[in-house]
Amino acid sequence: MKIAFVGKGGSGKTTLSSLFIRHLAANEAHVVAVDADINQHLGAALGLDEAEAAALPAMGAHLPLIKDYLRGTNPRIASAETMIKTTPPGEGSRLLRVSEDNPVFDACARTVRLDDGDIRLMATGPFTESDLGVACYHSKVGAVELCLNHLVDGPDEYVVVDMTAGSDSFASGMFTRFDMTFLVAEPTRKGVSVYRQYKEYARDFGVALKVVGNKVQGPDDLDFLRAEVGDDLLIGVGHSDWVRSMEKGRPSRFELLEADNRMALQALQDAAEDSYGLRDWERYTRQMVHFHLKNAESWGNEKTGADLAAQVDPSFVLGERRAGAGVPAPA
Ligand SMILES: Nc1ncnc2c1ncn2[C@@H]1O[C@H](COP(=O)(O)OP(=O)(O)OP(=O)(O)O)[C@@H](O)[C@H]1O
Ligand SMILES: [Mg+2]
Repeated sequence: MKIAFVGKGGSGKTTLSSLFIRHLAANEAHVVAVDADINQHLGAALGLDEAEAAALPAMGAHLPLIKDYLRGTNPRIASAETMIKTTPPGEGSRLLRVSEDNPVFDACARTVRLDDGDIRLMATGPFTESDLGVACYHSKVGAVELCLNHLVDGPDEYVVVDMTAGSDSFASGMFTRFDMTFLVAEPTRKGVSVYRQYKEYARDFGVALKVVGNKVQGPDDLDFLRAEVGDDLLIGVGHSDWVRSMEKGRPSRFELLEADNRMALQALQDAAEDSYGLRDWERYTRQMVHFHLKNAESWGNEKTGADLAAQVDPSFVLGERRAGAGVPAPA
């Protein structure tokens, strides 16, 4: 299951991602958490101290390794240099599994010990001012997109991405890679305006989008959100003293999280599971090809000097049967 948290700056994406990850760990799910936000705070929200968070490897710095591994023996991908963030897997490509060990996780993931179990954490790496809007920023987020497109995830395996709602994810197709996108919105006009923009992009691609109200203070706030986003409102989360004490550096055990908030997290998990149950791998593969062709044409062919459309393996469908390197999929 692939899940994204998006929303306006400061809405609570990182806080809710981290709570959701803790909740999943408490439910014994296998979790890979990915910090793909401009502000890299997921590690801290999961309890890493400053030095530990700063020592997280940056996916952006390991792109050549990621590409070389995923490319495997795929004859359509001549070299890592011609592999762009949207290059889809094909026969011979290596796929990733949430619960396995592989060189990509070795290089880019670190184990984080939570109260209720271990999870893996990966991070794009910090974005500097000069990254924004240029190729470097795209390649950092691109590393995540490549991994998502090469990942075969089962029902009890979760990838949770803390993400910006920025235009980069729309250009590349990143926003279509999730079974469920939780848009975190405070009950304010600005909060819901990000929702409208996201919804607009998502509409044509069948993206499952649910609004999670955050810092909701009462029925008035919920009424406001419901009036603005209708049935897309999943649930509202209130102020959490548990979160506040963690931010004071006095974390308490996760089992002490407020009961209302625990129930909200379960509602998120239920919604994600329902949506995963509807996953159509063929459509998922078709969409990655769509965005690859679009990116190839708009900049990729020119940048690599190759015809990147030729990377598409027309008979390949990502899916469970493809799991396990070298095992041919039944026709
Ligand atoms: N439900 C909550 N209860 C208590 N504090 C909260 C809650 N949600 C968010 N906060 C606090 O609000 C602040 C912003 O939250 P957070 O960092 O999660 O937002 P964000 O959307 O990830 O922001 P950014 O855009 O900077 O990445 C943090 O200090 C966080 O602890
Ligand atoms: Mg954040």
